[in-house]
Amino acid sequence: MEKIPIAMTIAGSDSGGGAGIEADLKTFSAMGVHGTVALTAITAQNTVDVFSVQDVELDVIEKQIDVVFEDMGIDAAKTGMLYRSEVIELVARKIREYGFPLVVDPVMTAKSGARLLKPEAEESLKKILLPVATVVTPNIFEAEVLSGLKISTLADMRDVAKRIADLGPKAVVVKGGHLENGNEAIDVVYSDGEFRELRGSRIDTRNTHGTGCSFSAAITAGLAKGKSIMEALEEAKNFIQIAIKYGLSIGKGHGPVNPIAWMQIDAEKYRVIENLYNAVKMLESSKIAKLIPEVGSNIVMALPKPYANSIMDVAGIPGRLIKLEDRVFAVKSPEFGASSHVARIVLKVMEYGEEWRAAMNIKYSSEVIEACRSLGLTVSSFDRREEPDEVKTREGGSLPWGVGKAIEKAGKIPDVIYDLGDVGKEPMVRILGRNAVEVATKVLMIASKLR
Ligand SMILES: Nc1ncnc2c1ncn2[C@@H]1O[C@H](COP(=O)(O)OP(=O)(O)OP(=O)(O)O)[C@@H](O)[C@H]1O
Ligand SMILES: [Mg+2]
Repeated sequence: MEKIPIAMTIAGSDSGGGAGIEADLKTFSAMGVHGTVALTAITAQNTVDVFSVQDVELDVIEKQIDVVFEDMGIDAAKTGMLYRSEVIELVARKIREYGFPLVVDPVMTAKSGARLLKPEAEESLKKILLPVATVVTPNIFEAEVLSGLKISTLADMRDVAKRIADLGPKAVVVKGGHLENGNEAIDVVYSDGEFRELRGSRIDTRNTHGTGCSFSAAITAGLAKGKSIMEALEEAKNFIQIAIKYGLSIGKGHGPVNPIAWMQIDAEKYRVIENLYNAVKMLESSKIAKLIPEVGSNIVMALPKPYANSIMDVAGIPGRLIKLEDRVFAVKSPEFGASSHVARIVLKVMEYGEEWRAAMNIKYSSEVIEACRSLGLTVSSFDRREEPDEVKTREGGSLPWGVGKAIEKAGKIPDVIYDLGDVGKEPMVRILGRNAVEVATKVLMIASKLR
């Protein structure tokens, strides 16, 4: 069996769990490498500020690196908060001794402005650590300090990246998070005598605590896995986009980014597909063709919040459920983005109760509604004739409008929402549930009540 790659973070601890080694370890795990630590400092910190800093003794830092290296090897490492010159000298010496690739995040201040590197250590960073670095990832402010130049444009970022490369690292990434470039966050890369850019859309959020740490940790994870520098940078950029997009609104200051989103989205997708698959098996094994309307039925399930934002985040059956004699069958396996109608219903329902993530449309008849009521299901409805004109003309606006009406009328999320249709619109019943299996269970109960 291949051994899991080993990455190390040589950095400080953030008691608020948003940056520092805490962010690095989450990132390492999310990216499939084993994370190890050489702790350099303990900070008392939260989303608002850094309140105190306690150094770790130099020989204890060295020992942490040595014992990990001797025992399991280190495939790549990163530095974060190093704080003082002696630590910088130590890390440079260890890199010369052990030779693993090193990503230097030249952390100087925290988002709050607190100093994480003593001013007198800036020279050691330039002269001693950058020459042994594989990648260095300054933000705009740090790049200005390292190069002695001012940055206000993308062209300045290039000049500065080249100037910093002269100090010896293989690749320089000047991060553009703090530079207003319209609606993009552009990082400039200089390596092997060439410029490249890492581009991502700028996300409007306060929750950016730990962006720099998580980004450099993601690069380190890539290098530990044996990727080239450019491959590692591109993956890290995708990674940080997602971590920022799903940042956590906690604390009174800048909430932390969420490195776990990278793998959690995939895990949740699997759970949704599996649940839908089981629901479809239940539906296929019963005689429910009478419940399928002319337009066919779809059963859908959304990712949990905050990941459910568009119909691409809702899985359904491509081609819908089709009647075959007295049974139904799914034309294809469940996929994300395979439904628009029923998916939009679920997205609307989730605005009222985020745990209600699944729905299926079935054929309307007064007997179906009666059956629902006698089963004790909560039933609500809307009237398409009451729909305001401005909603009618908006593509895809009708159903969410009706669903909102029906929920408000019931005063809670009902199990069943129906409408009697309108000119050219078939009457329809939608069965709601927390997951697809729950929806299928309700549909089967209705079918057996009708028999
Ligand atoms: N609002 C945003 N939207 C999208 N990407 C962003 C945003 N802010 C930062 N980034 C990206 O995140 C990465 C980290 O950059 P940033 O400039 O924030 O680092 P930093 O200042 O070192 O962060 P920290 O303050 O956590 O140390 C870069 O790839 C940057 O482009
Ligand atoms: Mg930073």
